[in-house]
Amino acid sequence: MAWTAHTIIQNGKAIPFEEARIHPLAVGVAYGAAVFEGIRAYMNPSTGRLSVFRLEEHLARLDQGMKFLRFDDPPSRDALRQGVLDSVRANAPDDDCYIRLQVHIESRGSQATTGKVGWVCAATPRERSPQRESGLSVCVSSWTRIADNTMPARVKATANYHAGRIATLQAKADGYDAPILLTRDGKLSEAAAACLFLVRDGALVTPGRDSDILESVTRDTVLQLAAEHGIPAQERRADRTELHVADEVFLCGTGQELVPVTSVDRLPVADGRPGPLTMRLQAAYEAVVRGTTNAHAEWRTPVI
Ligand SMILES: Cc1ncc(COP(=O)(O)O)c(C=O)c1O
Repeated sequence: MAWTAHTIIQNGKAIPFEEARIHPLAVGVAYGAAVFEGIRAYMNPSTGRLSVFRLEEHLARLDQGMKFLRFDDPPSRDALRQGVLDSVRANAPDDDCYIRLQVHIESRGSQATTGKVGWVCAATPRERSPQRESGLSVCVSSWTRIADNTMPARVKATANYHAGRIATLQAKADGYDAPILLTRDGKLSEAAAACLFLVRDGALVTPGRDSDILESVTRDTVLQLAAEHGIPAQERRADRTELHVADEVFLCGTGQELVPVTSVDRLPVADGRPGPLTMRLQAAYEAVVRGTTNAHAEWRTPVI
């Protein structure tokens, strides 16, 4: 992780990283009127080349968010795609990058202001989860996941993150690595910034899209890889106590990648060690994001 980010793209222009600006009273800050994507670019160890993983899916989700937030004259998909690639190229990283692409209202106004819209794209180094191999100790939070008719759960709006933030701070204060959030009716939903999978009787179980989840790109990747590896999977409502009878539990997301959970509320998951299916899927994920397999070349956009 030797490189540092010196350049950021703001409204399509490359500028020094520390010189990006937005007014503190901008509606994007004052009312959290912003949507974003967290994206990763991975280095292929043989070619030394970076490619962005599932860029088109991230751009499509961002478009849905901008539409939902009724942004005026939002940046085009082509401009944002170019911004992502430029943010990586401009910094000439010699390792993987985490890319934050954010679109916000940069003018001042009221809660109902819908423009002027601005955007920023930053590629930075990011540590991988230190628990990728050892596993996470999680708790079930007393905070519930935002309900879809309170906040738009399937839109990646910055304001949604307040709930995950307080749940994470509480979990850490209580000595856990991360929280799992339930829906308002007590079913499993997801973690603070990652989706949730269980393994039961050799099959994957993940809370369905009707469980107030973010419709995660990584969750979709895991489901596709599982199908290709002959691992059955169910997307369905899932109970809290299933966490305690599961053979394996793991979290997945662009930032977290694929991380085993080894205890829930201090009860070990099975024998308290990362499970075999989890680690098999983690290896399959690693191969597909990095391009050490030829499979799914369509998911990798080369940064040239
Ligand atoms: C609340 C939430 N759920 C799930 C995820 C996983 O989504 P993705 O796989 O698209 O990164 C994220 C990712 O940041 C998230 O913030």
